[in-house]
Amino acid sequence: MIERTLAILKPDCVKKNLTGEVIARIEKAGFKILAMKKARLSKETAGGFYAVHKGRPFYDSLVEFMSSGPCVPIALEKENAIADYRTLIGATDPKDAAEGTIRKLYADNKGENIVHGSDSVENGKIEIAFFFSNQELIQNE
Ligand code: RTP
Ligand code: MG
Repeated sequence: MIERTLAILKPDCVKKNLTGEVIARIEKAGFKILAMKKARLSKETAGGFYAVHKGRPFYDSLVEFMSSGPCVPIALEKENAIADYRTLIGATDPKDAAEGTIRKLYADNKGENIVHGSDSVENGKIEIAFFFSNQELIQNE
């Protein structure tokens, strides 16, 4: 099934000047970019995006980190996009991530882990709509 997922190149990715390298890996893995932008999330917006984690011990530091600098939300499309993208990025903690995954290659720790990915088709739709209007989602010819 063709699916969509929301990627975010997190503030650590932007700070390290790795956006191009990470996007290249995403494209080489066969994902098509539907929409992409640079964004600077307020604490409120970052908190709203990760509202499902409210109350978890890492929530405050996650909100702090996600609002610490610009990020790059990207709407992606591919056959089996949800699972394939999570395979591409690797486990949340880079220590546990498989060799060759984006987090293994570039992430410093479990909190600052370079990229976000949607965890289900349903959440992918919700998360893409959080950042992009329908008319901003443009399929390749
Ligand atoms: P994401 O939502 O960003 O794609 O990451 P994920 O599914 O792999 O992990 P999730 O459990 O959804 O956690 C969201 C983000 O919160 C930060 N986190 N820090 N220090 C910690 O124990 C901890 N746990 C989670 C990470 O930035 C994680 O990606
Ligand atoms: Mg998650």
